[in-house]
Amino acid sequence: MSGKTKAELVFIPSPGRGHLLATVEMAKLLIDRDERLSITVLVIKPSFDPNSSAHSYSPESNSRIRFIDITNVNSLSMSMSSPLTFLEQFIENHKDPVRNSVTQIVHDFGPNCGLAGFVIDMFCTAMIDVANEFDVPTYMFFTSGASALGLMFHFQGLRDYQNQDVTLYENSSEELCIPSYKLPVPAKLLPALMFDKDGGSTKFLDHAKRFRETKGIVLNTFLELESHAMKSLSEDDNIPPVYSVGPILHSHDENDRNPKYEEIMKWLDEQPDSSVVFLCFGSRGCFDDKNQVKEIAVALENSGHRFLWSLRKPANEHKFRTPGEYDNLEEVLPEGFLERNAGIGKVIGWAPQIAILSHRAVGGFVSHCGWNSTLESMWCGVPMAVWPLSAEQQMNAFQLVKDLGVAVEIKMDYKRNLMGGSNMNVTAEEIENGIRRLMQPQSETWVNVEAMKLKSRMALVENGSSFDFVGRFIENVMHNVA
Ligand SMILES: *[C@@H]1O[C@H](CO)[C@@H](O)[C@H](O)[C@H]1NC(C)=O
Ligand SMILES: *[C@@H]1O[C@H](CO)[C@@H](O)[C@H](O)[C@H]1NC(C)=O
Ligand SMILES: *[C@@H]1O[C@H](CO)[C@@H](O)[C@H](O)[C@H]1NC(C)=O
Ligand SMILES: *[C@@H]1O[C@H](CO)[C@@H](O)[C@H](O)[C@H]1NC(C)=O
Ligand SMILES: *[C@@H]1O[C@H](CO)[C@@H](O)[C@H](O)[C@H]1NC(C)=O
Repeated sequence: MSGKTKAELVFIPSPGRGHLLATVEMAKLLIDRDERLSITVLVIKPSFDPNSSAHSYSPESNSRIRFIDITNVNSLSMSMSSPLTFLEQFIENHKDPVRNSVTQIVHDFGPNCGLAGFVIDMFCTAMIDVANEFDVPTYMFFTSGASALGLMFHFQGLRDYQNQDVTLYENSSEELCIPSYKLPVPAKLLPALMFDKDGGSTKFLDHAKRFRETKGIVLNTFLELESHAMKSLSEDDNIPPVYSVGPILHSHDENDRNPKYEEIMKWLDEQPDSSVVFLCFGSRGCFDDKNQVKEIAVALENSGHRFLWSLRKPANEHKFRTPGEYDNLEEVLPEGFLERNAGIGKVIGWAPQIAILSHRAVGGFVSHCGWNSTLESMWCGVPMAVWPLSAEQQMNAFQLVKDLGVAVEIKMDYKRNLMGGSNMNVTAEEIENGIRRLMQPQSETWVNVEAMKLKSRMALVENGSSFDFVGRFIENVMHNVA
């Protein structure tokens, strides 16, 4: 490889629309910044979501991003074990078609263009093998925060270099020192996947092990939000260079998808500044236990605050499907709730989240602390009350409340299990107390969030931290073909 002036990156996101959208946002960030780059996104069609193909996504006609569908006819015959092992096998089965596609891509290059590397997301580490065959480096795009990445490395290190059985931390009451978190973290907040003895824990940490083989890790976060974690990652010689390039927000097309958009905005327009508490638990957020829904309703009513509540119906048979809408809200809410609160609250289904958080009427956000929601809340300067459900959300909650002081607690150690239930109930009283603390004007939390809002915006502008990291990442990539 020598003397090339143009570079092509091959992006391989995990199957599914969400992963594809995140990847496209990241790809656009790079393309918009540097004319020398072009990107091909290899779209592995998920067998469970046939509509999520390259053709269902039509970006603005940017000729330097293209999409190629990757299909493997054999992939349907696999057995459905645990979700993570299923995904593993599914990705593994697509190595051949990926190899064929990349061979074709390289074959079609003009004389000035070179293959600069693969960019995978966290579940696609198997594709590192294919990149190696082409003798190009792999980079990773990690869609959660730097602290969560540090968590994975820490436990993978304990397992592989210190021979510890990390699943023994399950049910532990210990507080653990994890380099990417400022304060010792209660073991009970660790992601449930870490303890999954049916292969989940092993696979999860195996991915982390392979992250170490990459030439760099791009993170959807910003330095000022996670300065401690970024420092701990950059100081560790066994961890590839990290590039925080966020916040990358996923706002596009949410408005046209929601027929209720106008109605929701009109309702917010009628409310006073910072008076509304917004409740939303993410695209998979719902409560199977109707009793839990009632507790939330009672808490809202007793708090006296105005509210906008995204309440979603659990999917019946397929637990891995996203929740739907209630035909009749009365069936889950306390009797007369809607009439009594008609003036001060609104219950909705799916929510155009960034638009809502950006509205001046919204003063607080009761959230499951998914990483995207966290970034959106900071971007919009809305304090959070944490009620995590699954994945690494308990750890995010801890970071937000304890490390950063940008959120208050409702229930930090709440966990929703894979089947949709939980090992605990949150009482109306706990929820109400959380909401009251959340909606205190000019609180310390509020001041911290205002500062973070400013920092999130500064990170993206010229000479901001994320702007600079994008530049450094591109230089690293161009070096591969020079
Ligand atoms: C954030 O949203 C994107 C796009 O929907 C998704 O691919 C990604 O997994 C989300 N990240 C987290 C940590 O949930
Ligand atoms: C796929 O899209 C078609 C046409 O838009 C729609 O009718 C169908 O229900 C979709 N299938 C799934 C599984 O979403
Ligand atoms: C933790 O508690 C659960 C439920 O009681 C139990 O099934 C599991 O084996 C325990 N784990 C450990 C490591 O003791
Ligand atoms: C939660 O509340 C419901 C209804 O009151 C009850 O049936 C269930 O046992 C409770 N669960 C826990 C873990 O306390
Ligand atoms: C960014 O930094 C460069 C080099 O220090 C400087 O020339 C430029 O004016 C800065 N741009 C802004 C918008 O501050």
